[in-house]
Amino acid sequence: MKITFYGQASFQIEYNGKMLVFDPFISPNEQAKEIDVNGIKADYVLVSHAHQDHIVDVETIAKNNQATVVGGYEVATHFGSKGHKYHPMNHGGKWNFDFGTVKMTNAIHSSSFPDGSYGGYPGGFVISGDGGTFYFAGDTALTWDMKLIPMTCPKLDFAILPIGDNFTMGYEDAVLASDFIECDTIIGCHYDTFGFIEIDHEAAKEAFSKKGKNLILPEIGKTFEI
Ligand code: NI
Ligand code: MN
Repeated sequence: MKITFYGQASFQIEYNGKMLVFDPFISPNEQAKEIDVNGIKADYVLVSHAHQDHIVDVETIAKNNQATVVGGYEVATHFGSKGHKYHPMNHGGKWNFDFGTVKMTNAIHSSSFPDGSYGGYPGGFVISGDGGTFYFAGDTALTWDMKLIPMTCPKLDFAILPIGDNFTMGYEDAVLASDFIECDTIIGCHYDTFGFIEIDHEAAKEAFSKKGKNLILPEIGKTFEI
């Protein structure tokens, strides 16, 4: 899989010939100012919850690419009502798309739209199929429910976990999360974007390596392969 990080929790992942974009928050992010949002290719935009730092560029990317917005019922229908293609889901459900299977997972967090309107409950996604299996956790605390993932999904090749603390779990809890989901390759996200979530990169990497795990802290705008 080819993975490009756009800052905060925004990723583009090429999966089985399709471009999946997750939680695009790029244009307001000073750290991602080199990224041209209009140049981003997407077949699907997967949205974990309704917070501003996950949805700001959903409409631009969906419109430019005629992409399908995938998310919880309230989030997906919100973008559907604005004329975008959409596929609503809810927790515990899975659907076979043309690229693979998406299962919506639990997250402990909140999920209102920037105007305060109801965004349903936040979630995450497990993507599986011919291209491999990965977990995009969305914004979440460490939760016991993560143990359900290895019980109900194919073995994870990697997981994208928030590690910035304050609004989500910090890297210490993310180490435990990686045990719960039985995965040793973790891509960190949701850190350093604002003052509340600045982290010590070396300490975070050390916390994972002590447990024999690898924490990848991707560079914004760089593409890498797993
Ligand atoms: Ni959030
Ligand atoms: Mn967030």
